[in-house]
Amino acid sequence: MALLEVNNLEVSYGLIKAVKGVSFTVDEGEIVALIGANGAGKTTIMHAISGLIGKSGGTVSLAGQDITGTPAHKLVSMGMAQVPEGRRIFQELTVIENLQMGYFIKKGKAEFQERLEQMYSYFPILKERKNQIAGTLSGG
Ligand SMILES: Nc1ncnc2c1ncn2[C@@H]1O[C@H](COP(=O)(O)OP(=O)(O)O)[C@@H](O)[C@H]1O
Ligand SMILES: [Mg+2]
Repeated sequence: MALLEVNNLEVSYGLIKAVKGVSFTVDEGEIVALIGANGAGKTTIMHAISGLIGKSGGTVSLAGQDITGTPAHKLVSMGMAQVPEGRRIFQELTVIENLQMGYFIKKGKAEFQERLEQMYSYFPILKERKNQIAGTLSGG
């Protein structure tokens, strides 16, 4: 069973059909890239999967559970996350507070600490700067 299964997805903006019958699956641990020209519908597909916009047809399931009509805030608690384009961070919060925001819905401080250490091992500069106001970081 695929972790994410998108079946015949259709999305419309008013009378305009932006996405017409898109199907794909994503297995656990797999990375899938959607490639297409500007305006092809990539962002629309992402928004429809994460519940930010409605679907006009098709189904989506997550770990075997039908999530076609599930609202975005419920999907988050089921483990779905969408990381938007660009550098969207909470400017006024510190680095560590930004990281905590990504975990606020989860319980278990021990797991957060473990994940945090793993993330710091990938990006050690964030550990050095964990108390810095995020809006004062450089883009890089
Ligand atoms: N909010 C919107 N209202 C109306 N049409 C939209 C809206 N957002 C996107 N579209 C249209 O839907 C199509 C797909 O857009 P989009 O998903 O942003 O493409 P991509 O991310 O692949 O560049 C485009 O024709 C775009 O103009
Ligand atoms: Mg886009």
